[in-house]
Amino acid sequence: MDVALDPRRYSIVDLIRRKRDGGAWSPDEATWIIEAYTAGWIADEQMSALAMAVFFRGMSAEELDPWTAAMVAGGVRLDYSDLDRPTVDKHSTGGVGDKITLVLTPLVAACGVAVPQLSGRGLGHTGGTLDKLESIPGWRGDLDSAQVRRQLLEVGGAIVAAGPDLAPADRKLYALRDVTGTVESIPLIASSIMSKKIAEGTGALVLDVKVGSGAFMKDLDSARRLARTMVRIGSGAGVRTVALLSDMSTPLGLTAGNALEVREAVEVLAGGGPDDVVELTLALAREMLAAVGVEADPAEVLASGRAMDRWRRLVRAQGGDPDAPLPTALETEVVTAPSDGVLERLDAMAVGLAAWHLGAGRVRKEDDVQAAAGVELHAQRGDEVRAGQPLLTLHTDTPERFAAARAALAGAVGVADPRSAAAPGPLLLGRVD
Ligand code: URA
Repeated sequence: MDVALDPRRYSIVDLIRRKRDGGAWSPDEATWIIEAYTAGWIADEQMSALAMAVFFRGMSAEELDPWTAAMVAGGVRLDYSDLDRPTVDKHSTGGVGDKITLVLTPLVAACGVAVPQLSGRGLGHTGGTLDKLESIPGWRGDLDSAQVRRQLLEVGGAIVAAGPDLAPADRKLYALRDVTGTVESIPLIASSIMSKKIAEGTGALVLDVKVGSGAFMKDLDSARRLARTMVRIGSGAGVRTVALLSDMSTPLGLTAGNALEVREAVEVLAGGGPDDVVELTLALAREMLAAVGVEADPAEVLASGRAMDRWRRLVRAQGGDPDAPLPTALETEVVTAPSDGVLERLDAMAVGLAAWHLGAGRVRKEDDVQAAAGVELHAQRGDEVRAGQPLLTLHTDTPERFAAARAALAGAVGVADPRSAAAPGPLLLGRVD
């Protein structure tokens, strides 16, 4: 950050107006906005208006690249290039039931690659990896950079929270976007994710860009544009970046909720688990290994139990007890299938909202989450169901939440005649490099 920068070099009101009216900023102006906001020269209400203008008008590459570079430059930039092995990270744009990181990090570490996995907390209907792992008694994600480095050498993987000095402009701006309806913007999402990933010091990055009702990007076209934008920013900053597009119109796997998802991830590490979780984990693992030129077969490593060994070491290294029983909810309620037929639709957003209402997510950043709350699925799209059979089990410690969860699920389930039911679409929808 150039602290000698003149706060009055540009007029923030002129820059907001210009973007609002469809004009463009120079690279220097885009850089200045981030530097001035980080330094506290731009007020939150001005930045909110500017974010809304970006939401409607977008940003060109000439604006977004210096904007993202300034976000990286405003904080620390870690460097693992002297480590004894390559580094690669994965980032998902956020979904429902997405426990992939829990399996993928130890799996790729067991293949001989270091995985400095920077993770976040859930907000709104999407779950956060840190919240999930914190349901393991004793586990903590607030490691400093020396601890991360040591763990990468000893275990091969670390799942950690972003420190306050990593891309501090994103920390401020994301909190503002969250309360001003400006999250779902391609340039704002791309710069937010990529600034943290570039600053974290990974050599390569594989993105899992989610598409569908439970994702920020609802259609394939906008997901592909987001993927292309992030791949361009990453590659331009020297991080080899590849993106997979994956379906998020229905939850991933059979659980949405913190401890419920840890339990399912452990089932996958033990060689079982739902097919969709295994498929996406292996596809992302193959991309991560290819990105750093390591030849290993992740399916074989998963089947051998070596990924499970790494998981246990990773959990222990971060203070957790991999053998401790996971919390279970005090109360459960069952939602049954409305009729005989094939489950054609099980809406990701509705299930995510139900899990959130049950206590798995938070309303404000400061809120606690319930470790055991969430939704367990007894069927997935394409399965045959009978009227009255259990379809979902709702878990919570606070039963007064059941009504809101049930209301969120109204209209979420579609059961069709087997002769006319549409077959479930593919999980993997594209690749951008
Ligand atoms: N995740 C982030 O880190 N930032 C966004 O803007 C959206 C998802």
